[in-house]
Amino acid sequence: MPKPGEVGHNTWEKDGWKDRSGTNAWGPISVDVNHGMVFLPLGSPSYDFYGADRKGEDLFANSVLALKTETGKLVWYYQIIHHDLWDYDLPAQPVLMTVHRANREIPAVAEVTKTGFVFVFDRLNGVPLFPIEERPVPQSQVPGEATWPTQPFPLKPPPLARTSVARADITNVTPESRKYCLQTFGSILPARIFDPWSLTLKLEMPGTLGGANWSGASFDPFSGYLFVNTSDLGVVGEMKRQPAGSPEAYLWGSKWGTFARFWDSQHYPCQQPPWGTLNAVNLNTGEIAWKVPLGVVDALKAKGIPKTGIYNLGGSIVTAGGLVFIGATADHRFRAFDAQTGKELWVTKLEFNGHATPMTYLGKRTNRQFVVIAVGAGGNIGDDASGPTALAAYALFPKGQSSPAQARLQAELAKIPSGTGSEPPEIKPPLLAPTQPIPFSHRGHVAAGMSCDNCHQLSSDGKQMQIPSVTGCMACHQSVMEARPAIQKMTQLEKEGQQISWVRVYQLPEFVFFSHQKHIDAKLACEVCHGMVRNQDVLRQEKEISMVACINCHKLRKVSTSCGLCHNIGY
Ligand code: HEC
Ligand code: HEC
Ligand code: HEC
Ligand code: HEC
Ligand code: HEC
Repeated sequence: MPKPGEVGHNTWEKDGWKDRSGTNAWGPISVDVNHGMVFLPLGSPSYDFYGADRKGEDLFANSVLALKTETGKLVWYYQIIHHDLWDYDLPAQPVLMTVHRANREIPAVAEVTKTGFVFVFDRLNGVPLFPIEERPVPQSQVPGEATWPTQPFPLKPPPLARTSVARADITNVTPESRKYCLQTFGSILPARIFDPWSLTLKLEMPGTLGGANWSGASFDPFSGYLFVNTSDLGVVGEMKRQPAGSPEAYLWGSKWGTFARFWDSQHYPCQQPPWGTLNAVNLNTGEIAWKVPLGVVDALKAKGIPKTGIYNLGGSIVTAGGLVFIGATADHRFRAFDAQTGKELWVTKLEFNGHATPMTYLGKRTNRQFVVIAVGAGGNIGDDASGPTALAAYALFPKGQSSPAQARLQAELAKIPSGTGSEPPEIKPPLLAPTQPIPFSHRGHVAAGMSCDNCHQLSSDGKQMQIPSVTGCMACHQSVMEARPAIQKMTQLEKEGQQISWVRVYQLPEFVFFSHQKHIDAKLACEVCHGMVRNQDVLRQEKEISMVACINCHKLRKVSTSCGLCHNIGY
């Protein structure tokens, strides 16, 4: 909550910030250890549905916040809903990943939302990686309310959930359902996202359960796909005047109670299917790679109605072997999908709903991979409020069956040429250099007489080549070129006890073991793996550090190429 004098304070008219509840990190927080940043998804300001006493944009409600881990200082923020009236809190942990753009790797953060929109930012500075438009939205007629005139719409990726319902969209899965829905809700259509509440019944689509929800998304670095499950379940309500002296002049509700759903007497949503989907979004392009219905309604399936999908709450995981596991659906099922195509590869019946995010691990004694999900009632969307609870565990690939991981590995190994091996090749075409926080030139410093080990010393465990601290740089720069803007920035950072957040150039996935020590001891020059660093004004990756490149040199030098050398296979 921005206090007087702080960024965002003026977005609360008339002391609306004071004694305000809500605007909390209700969803999980993410930490970027490398960049020393922490990412918070913030919730709605209370009272969620009526904002007469909090006119304005209401920062930092419904915003993604990036803070410095060490100081808590604000680095950037992005408000995803202005002046929320729909309970569209940011429900999910911001997901950290690397996206690829024109030969460049960008550290990114993605936030999935109840609106079904996916927002993708440059993690370091909050710049959207796909354009976002502020579009005018309808204004409230409820006395006292002041809707914010616009809301942000990302141009990519497309919304993953339904954002409007017209009469033509009313369900036709059964004649009874259609009749009920038309009679009960026909008069409130059409409806679309960001319609404000009114004194008569209205529909919010996506509803308060989303779109996406607390389980967020999983990400596959191999394909660049983000996996997001969404529900298409609207919520209906109206604003009701309260007696004078009540805490809120208007409360939101309906004759069916609060959070009444846009569904029929069987709890089938009132618009046409799909009612729940699993989506793979290619974050390199912003396109939806595939979208499939998630879940079944057994009674409808029995009537031969094509798969409808069903509302869901719970997360997905994606394995390195290319499988997406997800429970979540209100149909007592647990499934695995092919990460590349969205094909449902496996489904099993659970004792109850899997409103949870599954996990996977290797059994220590069996050395087999397990996948586990917590099962039980709850999640606010099942029909039954109580049921058995359980932990369901499954083992993958018993002897004799093969996995997609093995196929992928075979493809990787097939790239290794036979013969005596070779040194790491240059990357062609050349990669673009990343933009560094300080324009540091290797060429300049080497030309000034410095050698690599003046700055790069082995860490005590021998694994890493350290990069000097600001203090190390300032040993010279206190008196060398101290008036230059870049050096002044360094002086300032040193004074504040901060480090320079260099963008990494060579980086292996964490499942690879690599140590500089043995390679330096074997008298391998830096150039062999890093190219002509000494000639570079801006350092870019020149040499490959792929598995093929590692193994080819090991062949050349007659070093072991067994898997366990570089991977902790037995773990
Ligand atoms: C004056 C200090 C200094 C000297 C001398 C120096 N470096 Fe660096 N080096 C840095 C800094 C600072 C960075 C991080 C900024 C960047 O990537 O440009 C870096 C980054 C690197 C990286 C990339 C690390 C990564 O993965 O992000 C490599 C590789 C590297 N240096 C190799 C060398 C080699 C080889 C030499 C000798 C030819 C050398 N450096 C000399 C300061 C130095
Ligand atoms: C056998 C190949 C190889 C040689 C030789 C080599 N490096 Fe590296 N270097 C790598 C790899 C691979 C990484 C990425 C390591 C990771 O991400 O864990 C790396 C990373 C780095 C980094 C980033 C910090 C780190 O350790 O992750 C610096 C700085 C660096 N190297 C400098 C040097 C310098 C200076 C030399 C020469 C003294 C050198 N390297 C020799 C392969 C090599
Ligand atoms: C041994 C002394 C020494 C150390 C240590 C040193 N530098 Fe330098 N630095 C120099 C010299 C000399 C130059 C001028 C070289 C040239 O002509 O490009 C320079 C130039 C620079 C410049 C260019 C300034 C401008 O505006 O042109 C930057 C930026 C810089 N250094 C950053 C760093 C950083 C970051 C470190 C620590 C990783 C560092 N230096 C460590 C001596 C040093
Ligand atoms: C330029 C040739 C070359 C390249 C490229 C290379 N290696 Fe090596 N590697 C060696 C040599 C030589 C040794 C030393 C063997 C010894 O001294 O026992 C070694 C040893 C190792 C060891 C055992 C060292 C220890 O600490 O136990 C590991 C692990 C390893 N390399 C991993 C990698 C990985 C991962 C890569 C790719 C990122 C890689 N290597 C790339 C030549 C290379
Ligand atoms: C000399 C080091 C080295 C050896 C030996 C090695 N790998 Fe790798 N492996 C790597 C590196 C580096 C990567 C990450 C870069 C890449 O994907 O190319 C990797 C990646 C992988 C991946 C992930 C591929 C993907 O992108 O999904 C698998 C799986 C794998 N290795 C399995 C194996 C197996 C099995 C063996 C033994 C046959 C083996 N590796 C031997 C260095 C090694």
